[in-house]
Amino acid sequence: MDTIIVKPTQNEIKRAANIILQSGIVAIPTETVYGLGANALDKSAVEKIFLAKGRPMDNPLIIHIGRKNDIYKYAKNISSTTEKLIDEFWPGPLTVVLQKKSIIPDEITGGLSTVAIRMPANEVALALIRQAGVPIAAPSANVSGKPSPTKACHVKDDLNGKISLILDGGSCEVGVESTVVDVSGEKVAILRPGKITKEMIERFVKVDSVMENASKSEVPKAPGMKYAHYSPKAKITIYDGKREDVLKQINTDVHNYSFKGIKVGVIIESEYKSSIVYGNVYDIGCYDDEHAVAKNLFSILRQLDDDDIEVAFIPMLKSEHIGKATMNRLLKAAAYNLKTV
Ligand code: TXA
Ligand code: MG
Repeated sequence: MDTIIVKPTQNEIKRAANIILQSGIVAIPTETVYGLGANALDKSAVEKIFLAKGRPMDNPLIIHIGRKNDIYKYAKNISSTTEKLIDEFWPGPLTVVLQKKSIIPDEITGGLSTVAIRMPANEVALALIRQAGVPIAAPSANVSGKPSPTKACHVKDDLNGKISLILDGGSCEVGVESTVVDVSGEKVAILRPGKITKEMIERFVKVDSVMENASKSEVPKAPGMKYAHYSPKAKITIYDGKREDVLKQINTDVHNYSFKGIKVGVIIESEYKSSIVYGNVYDIGCYDDEHAVAKNLFSILRQLDDDDIEVAFIPMLKSEHIGKATMNRLLKAAAYNLKTV
């Protein structure tokens, strides 16, 4: 099968919707990352997603809907606070976990009694869902374990030959996946940090717990959080300490590795670029622009592989707002390999 990347014209959206309705899978842009979509009500289609991604069957998928009210078709026991959350943040990068209705196949939820739902803030995704007339189950469109795709070409790099169509919506605006919030029980828990922060959610409801940077040993509540994630081939080290000392240490370490013939990359904010003397330098955006940093992270992690980088160094990034989500993904990509300077 040839994989083609197409501009999302009305005709191509119709073509994609037909593929979805014929139990096929297509890659679609969302505001967070690209998703690999299938008809959420069609078991055989959903199984193709797991196969193409090499995803463990017990890791449940998010269902994407085209209208807020569709949530009542697929979930039950929806509280008035949940309604307030979706009123405020949908369409947008917030996924809510709720008790599922029986129309949702167990294949989607990994056998759980809950289902994760979101309405994406992306015109192409919404047009496709509405055209198909079915909810679309979509995990990130990467091969399991790799960084999530934020451009159509990333999807092609991972899934070439495994899917027929990629709708090209350009670069994803947000760049890290949606916040996952469990509102299925009495206590509210953030299972995955994202652009919608705890503080934003707490304007409506108290958040009881946040799975932020759980260490490897903790058992994560969102099943997906327990698997290796976002890993480029390069071994990543995150440097923590006073910025001046960190820069000095990175320069020393780059020099030592390069001397041994190892290909080193340094991921750094724009204003510190000129402080790095050796190695391949990757500009992740300005320190205070946490939205740009979030948007660039996955793309840079993939670039490391393209450039055959063997080890990569990066300082701790600013961890405010969406920066918390970015650091969460970076720590996983680095397998929690922190060096304190
Ligand atoms: O931004 C996003 O959410 C992207 C775009 C494509 O929408 N999708 C995405 O899907 O990141 P995925 O499959 O890569 O991540 C879904 C996460 C996983 O950690 C999964 O375990 C969790 O949501 N999840 C799904 N259903 C759940 C449930 N019923 N209970 C708890 N966690 C759930
Ligand atoms: Mg994913």
